Amino acid sequence: MLFKKHPEKFWNLIASKYAASPIADRAAYETKLEKIKGYLSTDTRMLDIGCATGTQCCDLSPVIAHATGIDISGKLLAIAEQRKGERGLDNIEYMNTTVFDSRLKPESFDLVTSFYVVHFVPNIDEFFARVYSLLKPGGLYISETACLGEKGKLLGLFLRLAGSLGLMPKINLLTTAQLEQALEKAGFRLVEKTMFSQINHEYTLFAKK
Ligand SMILES: C[S@@+](CC[C@H](N)C(=O)[O-])C[C@H]1O[C@@H](n2cnc3c(N)ncnc32)[C@H](O)[C@@H]1O
Repeated sequence: MLFKKHPEKFWNLIASKYAASPIADRAAYETKLEKIKGYLSTDTRMLDIGCATGTQCCDLSPVIAHATGIDISGKLLAIAEQRKGERGLDNIEYMNTTVFDSRLKPESFDLVTSFYVVHFVPNIDEFFARVYSLLKPGGLYISETACLGEKGKLLGLFLRLAGSLGLMPKINLLTTAQLEQALEKAGFRLVEKTMFSQINHEYTLFAKK
């Protein structure tokens, strides 16, 4: 039951192991960063949802005005703070919270990102509506997440069972088509869809407000 009601406890428990694991496909990650940078300017204010150890905040903050990273895991955020300090980055703020925190103001971000988070959020329609409201008009949302509804049925069954027993956080078995529909429903316009890695085999969706 533990992780069903308190998913943050799961992430806190695995924080050190998660932080020590390298990026699975470094070349694809670098290519994706370059693509993302093409959308940014020195005025860009970014919100990274589920920032974990702050990898994307640290890698993108040098070319933008400000990055806010939010996460439900205090332990991962402590590592993020440490890495920010080690890299001497002073335009990143980390917050131990969710996207629904009222300190995050409507129309205050040019860029919102979420990498491997949407399959964990309880309600993707509410989540995308909130992301939409946080973006300035014309702002960009970038999402890459596990589309487990497209993988084997057995894996789906296992994840459903593990989630309902509370052995791990509840996981949405999404498909890319469902994500695209939900983005459209929230008001977004899909501007780009790229699969950067043949290892994780997931699309990165670029959607504009
Ligand atoms: C698979 S990790 C991805 C981390 C990072 N974005 C990356 O690409 O390496 C998922 C992260 O989302 C965070 N998370 C899960 N549910 C969340 C929620 N509702 N709001 C904010 N963060 C959440 C977890 O604590 C964890 O750090």
